[in-house]
Formats: sequence, C-alpha cells, structure tokens
Amino acid sequence: MACVSYQTAGLSSSTTTRAVLPRMCYRLNRASTVVVGANSRNRGLRRLNAVAETAAMEAVELKKGIAELYDESSGLWENIWGDHMHHGYYDPDTDVSVSIPDHRAAQIRMIDEVLRFAGISEEPPTRLPKNLVDVGCGIGGSSRYLASKYGANAKGITLSPVQAERANALAAAQGLANQASFQVADALDQPFPDGEFDLVWSMESGEHMPDKAKFVNELVRVAAPGATIIIVTWCHRDLGASEKTLKPDEKSLLDRICNSFYLPAWCSTADYLKLLESHSLEDIKAEDWSPYVAPFWPAVIRSALTWKGFTSLHKNNKRSIGNAIDDPRIQEGPNQKHEMNV
Ligand SMILES: C[S@@+](CC[C@H](N)C(=O)[O-])C[C@H]1O[C@@H](n2cnc3c(N)ncnc32)[C@H](O)[C@@H]1O
Repeated sequence: MACVSYQTAGLSSSTTTRAVLPRMCYRLNRASTVVVGANSRNRGLRRLNAVAETAAMEAVELKKGIAELYDESSGLWENIWGDHMHHGYYDPDTDVSVSIPDHRAAQIRMIDEVLRFAGISEEPPTRLPKNLVDVGCGIGGSSRYLASKYGANAKGITLSPVQAERANALAAAQGLANQASFQVADALDQPFPDGEFDLVWSMESGEHMPDKAKFVNELVRVAAPGATIIIVTWCHRDLGASEKTLKPDEKSLLDRICNSFYLPAWCSTADYLKLLESHSLEDIKAEDWSPYVAPFWPAVIRSALTWKGFTSLHKNNKRSIGNAIDDPRIQEGPNQKHEMNV
C-alpha cells in the first residue's frame, strides 16, 4: 500500500493510578449524554443530541461492517497467509522477492521484533507474560504463538463470530484449548475486569477503532500494575507545526483506504502518544516501521489470482478490498517515497 503509515508504539504501565483516569472519563461521557437528553427542547442541545445519535449509528454500522468483512474474508486469507492477518517484518536492505512461506515467516518475525522492541525477551525471566489479552485477535495467531512461546494464558477478542469460532478450533487442534480462548467482544468495551493482564497486545486492530481515546483507555484499564501494553497500528504521518490537517491528496488516499477496509478516521503516532501520555504510564516509546513492512502488500498483490477470489467475496458489497488493490498507490505498500509514511 503506497502511503499507508505504519507505526508501532510500545509502553509499560505504571504500578499505581493506571486505571483511575479511564473510568473517570467514561463516567463524564455518560453524564453529559444524559444532560443533553434531559434538555432536548433546547435547539442547540437538540443539535448536539442529533450529532451524538449519528455518531452512535455510524459506530454501530462500522462494527457491523467490520464483523462482516472478517466473517467473509478470514477463511480465504487463512488459506493463503495462515494464522496471521498482519504485515511481515523484512530487512529493508535485502531482496524480498520471496515465497509465500517466507512471507509467513516474516509475519512471525513481526511478532518477535515487536516483543524485542517492547523489551519482552527471554531475559530476564521475570518479565515474561503469563496472562495476556489479544485485542482484535483475528483467528488468534498472535495469541497461540505467545501462549506457546511463554506458556502463558491468552484471551482474544474480535468483532467477527467466524474468527472467534475458528480461533477456538485452531487452539483445540494445536493442544492449546486450556491456554487460549476467544470470544466476540468490542475492544472499546472489553468484557474483562480492571488490571487483569500482564501483556495487552493489539496487532493491527487499532486502525479500526472509531474512538482512539476510548481504545487506549480500555487497553490501560485491563492492564495489571507493571504490565506491558503494545499497539501496532496504521497511522498517518505526524503533522508539521504549521499544519492543521493532511493535504487534500493525502486525505483522498486515506478515504479510499478507509472505504475499502472499514476504517474510521486515521490519526498520527503523535496523537497516540498524547493519549498514552495522559495516563500514568512509564517507558512510552514509538517507532515508524514503514520500511520494514513495505514489501508485504506487493506480495499480497502478487498472489493476484487468489487475491481476486478474495475480493470477489465482496463483490456485492459497496465497500470492497478490491477497491483498494485497484489503486496503484496502495499496491506499492507503505513507502518512504510518499509523503505519508507509517
Ligand atoms: C487486520 S485484523 C488483525 C488480526 C490479528 N491481530 C492478527 O494480527 O492476525 C483486525 C482485527 O481487529 C478486529 N477488530 C476491529 N475492530 C474491533 C473492535 N472494535 N473490537 C474488537 N475487535 C476489533 C477485527 O475483528 C479483526 O479481528
């Protein structure tokens, strides 16, 4: 994909006030909604109410669209790419005209590189995760890999019932049914108590979230004291000091991608960092990995015949992944040649 930004942000939560802020924010949001409703004869407030209702309807539509997209496409994706629905990680200095098995290995390498970036390695053993959540889990590839690697327990959530069922079936088939379980749930309203997990993992799901603040709040809320939170996601470039928005051609490209992949508005890595810094977290760090993931999309496009089958699944849907691959800028993958990089 030509101008898709790609960033990874890893951070560790602090040991004390981590969960207080998200809960306060949530209560405030709910309270203000109630006040607007109670004064609905007032024209200004009525307008606000209407805006809130429209946003709520859009959020419902978005969730439905995402669930259908993955319900319909996950089986075919799995046939080609296996367990993982995320980019591979490549050495930008080597020739990457590699086979599908090599690209699959690059997807695993992505997980290992992310762990290394976040400081979770084999040593020292005290930092190894024992209880993790995979937020936006796909068919559970990351969960099963991490559960096996660390002997950890993993819980995954996805909007797609087909994905959750498949993820559970694969866990059973791989002898991991006691360690990895999957359910349909919303990342913005997670079915877990505060402070449940020592690793909170979100691999390429953040770009689907319509409310990034709520998304980050929930990731922080479910993190235990001392936990590590990892977000790997698509972002647009950071704006310059004199810029208020992206350029029109950048916006039009992002609109095209949003339309094809059921993505709401994009944000930058700087936006994520601001959200993360509003919590009591330590060791927040972020990096642009565009050059390391760039070869992935061209490889996906090269599997064109099968890919056509993938897109044909969506031929009756006004939003289609086919829309995206028809655009040469998207075919090139995230790339430093373009002004938006992730
Ligand atoms: C590109 S897939 C990535 C899957 C997986 N993380 C992987 O790397 O294989 C995006 C995933 O995010 C999930 N997702 C998107 N929005 C979500 C939401 N609001 N709540 C839970 N899951 C969501 C989708 O259902 C899908 O499983």
